[in-house]
Amino acid sequence: IESAFGDGPLSGRHVIVTSGPTHEPIDPVRYIANRSSGRQGAEIARALRDLGARVTFVTGPSTTPPPAGVEVVAVETALQMLGAVQGALPADAVICAAAVADWRVANAHADKLKKDPSGRIPTLEFVENPDILATISQMQEDRPRLVVGFAAETSDVLAHARAKRARKGCDWIVANDVSPETGIMGGNENAVLLITADGVEQWPRMEKSEVARRLARRIAEALAE
Ligand code: CTP
Ligand code: CA
Repeated sequence: IESAFGDGPLSGRHVIVTSGPTHEPIDPVRYIANRSSGRQGAEIARALRDLGARVTFVTGPSTTPPPAGVEVVAVETALQMLGAVQGALPADAVICAAAVADWRVANAHADKLKKDPSGRIPTLEFVENPDILATISQMQEDRPRLVVGFAAETSDVLAHARAKRARKGCDWIVANDVSPETGIMGGNENAVLLITADGVEQWPRMEKSEVARRLARRIAEALAE
């Protein structure tokens, strides 16, 4: 294991990792969230750190503690996450492992919503959140050299992931099948496809920490070219 003090193949490199879910407020005491544990993102940040990178870890409210030796930027919403990533640029690579909420509540209330005595049920309206991965991938100036996204799918994994890579303009997509029967969502293991400009690699099922180490080594190789 390389030390956390900047030697190793990623020494001198700055990598931004997004991780965890986002929380989108409904009112001051309620929010919309998802089941992301943030585990894969934290493992990736740790593995990059172990190869000597300076890591900015932009994380939504997560049940997984961040690794030591990385700069943690804690955010709640997708808008805050985008701002934190942009504020941390420039970077050699950006790895978008966060489960960003696709929508936020358009009519979020400044005060706590109260039950209506007549029994009227409130209606939430949604607007689409910015796509952080696409925004960074499509930067016109000083774009990070390597932008990596994830694609968690429950069917047609390869087709959906390839379409995502093309649509967003990122360099790599790490795709996985998160159907409940795989036990991957919230579990210790992952089985991924790595989709690059050169094609598709199927990695065997392995611990999320091992996926992270393999990915970090591949990132180091790509940035060394
Ligand atoms: N992502 C992002 N910002 C968003 C939505 C997604 O940065 N607002 C990133 C995720 O971190 C991930 C990749 O985009 O790296 C794919 O996320 P995913 O939810 O699978 O893709 P979507 O484009 O949101 O498509 P859908 O949820 O409809 O499958
Ligand atoms: Ca999504």
